[in-house]
Amino acid sequence: MTLRHFLRDDDITAAEQRQVLALAALLKRDRRAHQPLAGPRSVAVVFEKQSTRTRLSFDVGIAELGGHPVTIDAQGSHLSRGETVADTARVLSRYVDAIVIRTYGDDRIRELAAAASVPVVNALTDGFHPCQLLADLLTVDEHLGGAAGKILTYVGDGANNMAHSYLLAGALAGAHVRVAAPEGYHPDPAIVADAEALAATTGGSVSIGVDPHGAAEGAHVLTTDAWVSMGQGDAEIREKDLTPYRIDAALLAGTDPGSIVLHCLPAHRGEEITDEVMDGPRSAVFDQAENRLHAQKALLTWLLDPTVRANP
Ligand code: CP
Ligand code: NVA
Repeated sequence: MTLRHFLRDDDITAAEQRQVLALAALLKRDRRAHQPLAGPRSVAVVFEKQSTRTRLSFDVGIAELGGHPVTIDAQGSHLSRGETVADTARVLSRYVDAIVIRTYGDDRIRELAAAASVPVVNALTDGFHPCQLLADLLTVDEHLGGAAGKILTYVGDGANNMAHSYLLAGALAGAHVRVAAPEGYHPDPAIVADAEALAATTGGSVSIGVDPHGAAEGAHVLTTDAWVSMGQGDAEIREKDLTPYRIDAALLAGTDPGSIVLHCLPAHRGEEITDEVMDGPRSAVFDQAENRLHAQKALLTWLLDPTVRANP
């Protein structure tokens, strides 16, 4: 079976994204429907940054697939003492069937994947959070019947992992992705160009601007993320710059009447999103959090089960 990694949202095709989401929906209906990791096969889940949802959803999901999760932190391993990610990948590849890692720079996960002989999955880097986007798109499928042709609006820090993943995964899904962020917080132009190229093939589109109310107008999905991501400083400046991009009732009022609000969590209530919206009727954030489990089980199945990947 060809070795595939999932380091960025566009490491899978539009058809493959649909296949993973359909499998996720099936596994959600019957959590023990498929146990491709029975044996058990093992998956290493490595954290160089904090996590609640990703840690728990991979641990539980791998076990539900019949496999054995082995979760380690940088601090408890030699990663924090300077052992290279390439050497770590060579060693882990001798023990496990896949490596899931949350780390800092994307160069770090690319270096790890290049040395690994098993699939590597990005559980969040500075640049992308592709597993989160699979869960977000599953949530959009459930609430809105699919992302194709829908307007997905992201407001806030447009230069972070979530904004970049929205651009790529949203474009792949055929959505119209709008990002509203202040100057200095705009997405990486190379990623915008990649998203535009994808959108041209799927019927989606991409737009980047500074006006949150304009971007929210008529949106089917309104989303945001932390103003200060893990590993970032300058909290005071960032909070001041990003305050106009908070999701509150006034911003939500301009969206489509059937819109939903997403947030990858953890939320900083009162900063990027108000309590009123988080706890309001349009919020799908806890469905979204649950869907991490189902989406990641589908992804691991797709990466590791040759019968599934060969039969879209
Ligand atoms: N959304 C998300 O990745 O949450 P954690 O940081 O808790 O894993
Ligand atoms: N952008 C956030 C996402 C947390 C899940 C961060 O990287 O900290």
